[in-house]
Amino acid sequence: MVDDHGNNKVIDEGKQGEALVLDDHSEGSKKLYVESYGCAMNFSDSEVVASIMAKEGYSTTRNSEEADVILINTCSIRDNAEMRVRKRLTEFRKQKKAQPKLVVGVLGCMAERLKQSLLEEEKLVDLVAGPDAYRELPGMIDEVNGGQKAVNVLLSREETYGDISPIRLDEGGISGFVSITRGCDNMCSFCVVPFTRGRERSRDPHTIVQECTDIFNRGYREVTLLGQNVDSYRWNMSSKGVIKDETQSTTDFAELMEMVAQIHPDLRIRFSTSHPKDLTDKVLEVMAKYDNICPYIHLPVQSGHSDVLQRMNRGYSREWYLDRIAAIRRILPNCGISTDIIVGFCGETEEEHQATLSLQNEVQFDFAYMYKYSERPKTLAERKFEDDVTEELKSRRLDEIIANQLRHSLANNLRQIGEVHKVLIEGVSKKSEDDLMGRDERNTKVVFPKGTAKKGDYVWVKIKECTSATLIGEQVEEPAKLVVS
Ligand code: SAH
Ligand code: SF4
Ligand code: F3S
Repeated sequence: MVDDHGNNKVIDEGKQGEALVLDDHSEGSKKLYVESYGCAMNFSDSEVVASIMAKEGYSTTRNSEEADVILINTCSIRDNAEMRVRKRLTEFRKQKKAQPKLVVGVLGCMAERLKQSLLEEEKLVDLVAGPDAYRELPGMIDEVNGGQKAVNVLLSREETYGDISPIRLDEGGISGFVSITRGCDNMCSFCVVPFTRGRERSRDPHTIVQECTDIFNRGYREVTLLGQNVDSYRWNMSSKGVIKDETQSTTDFAELMEMVAQIHPDLRIRFSTSHPKDLTDKVLEVMAKYDNICPYIHLPVQSGHSDVLQRMNRGYSREWYLDRIAAIRRILPNCGISTDIIVGFCGETEEEHQATLSLQNEVQFDFAYMYKYSERPKTLAERKFEDDVTEELKSRRLDEIIANQLRHSLANNLRQIGEVHKVLIEGVSKKSEDDLMGRDERNTKVVFPKGTAKKGDYVWVKIKECTSATLIGEQVEEPAKLVVS
């Protein structure tokens, strides 16, 4: 499964994937079933919810049939993401008919966008909680059990759930997500996130380092720092009244990453998502300084034409984006780069579409998430522009962009043949019991025959062949480091 933000090892619920269901975790007497759609941030929030509910005696189950409470953590990014959730809610409504005591709640971005209407007009659920209301869930469930409906969609300027240690439900997990910011202040004209997640706020760096240290001690070997725009992370102690001297009190993203990298050399660091207008050389230099910060950047471009970027309100031009790519190649010559592309945005001409294809050719991305524009209610684009590219044209342009990307992914992978990559083993390959699967530093999937190594180990793999999505190789000894005297 893949997600919407380039951590292509998790969820895509906003796109073509299935939902991610929290694993069994048996402690409490009451049973909670949580299904998550959307980005990694939603998945991470579901773990926060599980932690809040565990304190009230709930244990999670993978079987919705045995649940006392069902919570669906939802995504609004594109219309099809919402349609999928509606279908699921209709199924749970049927279950509730047979099981009247069951509580069904909707969380996340759809809850925030549709608010009461999910309860009143559509009568699909008992409870609606927006992304900043999860601490209130136990009380809301009590209200529902007392015969009421419960809604809390207040957005906060402060809530980061910084003090809540999320329950990691994948026992023996290797790779975890840690949220560093919530919300987004960017107002890209196509995007619903600023409306569903509210204003941007950063989490206290010490709670972030604490959480990363905890999961490392529990056997995790990789952490992905999450935010809609990680580069704008900024913690200001003085604004919280803790330290008065401004110069000593702010932590930016580069500094935060350095703090996390110093936890242990065996803890790999990734992050998502970077914004081209805010990605600084300072961040790239910190990445170059630490072996355990993976040389991989997800840098969504959205379009290759500056006029489209302006209509999208992205805050950069084609030239600016290419300058950031040049900076990555200069400072981190071996860095993997992936992107997001939207085709058929309002008013997109053939020439503008061709500019996206030419930008793809120029950058040669390793990987891309590609979407047809989907108009979202209340966004700037919905108010200002017409969604005037026909469905047929959107499909044709998407096919062209995808075909181009597949060529680039394959060409980039072919270039790796003969190279030796450091791979963190995630488990047995889905295709064959005899093979293991892991990821290299550039975030490419690597498959190789089983030896004595196991999940969570770092191994060196010599690449022998590939597809456009996977490298296939054989385990080798660690290559000797070149010592330059
Ligand atoms: N914060 C990240 C991405 C958030 S959403 C960023 O700024 O890049 C993930 C991706 O979904 C976006 O990069 C964009 O490509 C896509 N997306 C967002 N809104 C969309 C819409 N209305 N229609 C189609 N794709 C959309
Ligand atoms: Fe949406 Fe833009 Fe914010 Fe990303 S940066 S979440 S695309 S508004
Ligand atoms: Fe979807 Fe909300 Fe994430 S709209 S992509 S779940 S922030």
